[in-house]
Amino acid sequence: MLVLGIESSCDETAFAVVADGRRVLSNAIASQVDLHARYGGVVPEIASRAHLECCVSLYRRALEDAGVSIADIDAIAVTRGPGLAGCLLVGIEYAKGLALRHDKPLVPVHHIAGHLYSVFLGRESDAWGNDVSADAEFEPYLALVVSGGHSSLVHVTGWLEYETLGETLDDAVGEAYDKVAKLLGLGYPGGPLLDVIAMATEATRFELPRPLMRKDNFDFSFSGLKTATARLVETEFPDRGDAPLPEDFVAEIAKAFQDACVDVLLTKAERALERLGTDRLAIAGGVACNRGLRAAVADRLPRASVAIPAPEFCTDNAAMIAGAGFRQMRDGVVADLGLNAEPGLALVPGGAAWGR
Ligand code: KG4
Ligand code: ZN
Repeated sequence: MLVLGIESSCDETAFAVVADGRRVLSNAIASQVDLHARYGGVVPEIASRAHLECCVSLYRRALEDAGVSIADIDAIAVTRGPGLAGCLLVGIEYAKGLALRHDKPLVPVHHIAGHLYSVFLGRESDAWGNDVSADAEFEPYLALVVSGGHSSLVHVTGWLEYETLGETLDDAVGEAYDKVAKLLGLGYPGGPLLDVIAMATEATRFELPRPLMRKDNFDFSFSGLKTATARLVETEFPDRGDAPLPEDFVAEIAKAFQDACVDVLLTKAERALERLGTDRLAIAGGVACNRGLRAAVADRLPRASVAIPAPEFCTDNAAMIAGAGFRQMRDGVVADLGLNAEPGLALVPGGAAWGR
C-alpha cells in the first residue's frame, strides 16, 4: 500500500511517499529557516505563504522521486495538528484537493503520532529487531519526544495507542535551545550550533538549574532554565550592550546548558522506564539529533535498548506522517472533506477522534 504524506504544521513543507508504512520511496522537504532567520523565530503569516508557494513543486518531486504517479497512491495522509493554524490549513486543503480530484481516502494524522512512528521508517524490522510488517505484533515502548514545539514522555502501547506520562509546562526543549543560542549570538535556529559548540567544550565552571528534575513526575520545564541562563549572562557581563560575548564564555555556557538539558531529559526517561518496567526507549523529534543527548544515552541508560531515527526522520518530515497514516488506514481512521485544522489537537489513544 502506498501512502502520500503531507506535513506543513510549522516551518517545513514536506511531501513523501511510503510503501507499507516502512519503505520510504521519497522524502521531499523545503525548509523555511532562511525566511524566518532575520526575525529570530517562525512568523506564522510568512510560514503559511511559503507553504503555499512550494506545495505544487514538492508534490511533483515526491511522486517523481518515488517513481510513481498519483494513480498508484492508495491514500493521502496529512498532519491535522497540533501546529500553526494557517500552516496546517495549507497542507490540509492541498490534501483535500488531491483526495477529491483523484478519489483517494484522506487520513488525518497527529503530528506527534508521526514523530512516535518515525523509529519504524526505512526498516524491515524495528530498531529493536522486531518484525514491523503490517501484521506483526506490537511491542510497547517509551518515547521521549523532543522538538521545537514539544517535550514529552509517551508510553506507546499499540500502533495507535498512546499514554502521555508528562510534557513540558512551558517552553519545549528545542525552543529553549534556539532562544539560548540567540542570546549567545549564534543566530536562528541556533540549537544545532549550540550543540556543536557544547560538544567541543571540555569543561565549564558554570552549573545551571535542572527544573523539575527532583519532582516525582514526568513533566518538564525549560523556560526557567532559559531565564537562568540569561541571568547568568547578565551577571557576568552587566554592561555589554550589543557587544558580542567572548568565545570561551559562550562555549562554557553552551556546555552548561547542554549538560542541564541532557541531565533532565535522561533522568526523567530513566525514571519512566523503571516505572513502566520496560527497557525499550525511542527518542524522536528534532532534538533527537543532538549529539550530546545521543552520546549520553549509552552512559546514562546502559540497560536500555534505545532507538533513535536517522536525522532526516528526526526533524519534521512527511514520511513519518505517511507511515502513521498507513497504520490509521488499516484501522479505518479516515476523514471526510470537511476536515479542518486543529492547532491544539490532543494525542488521544486510538486516533479515532482525529478523523472528526
Ligand atoms: O522536530 P523539529 O524539526 O520541529 C518541531 O516539530 O518543532 O525540531 C526542530 C527543533 C529546533 O528547535 C532545532 O533547534 C532543534 O530541533 N534541533 C536541535 C538540534 N537539531 C535540531 N537542538 C539541539 N541540538 C541539535 N543538534
Ligand atoms: Zn515536529
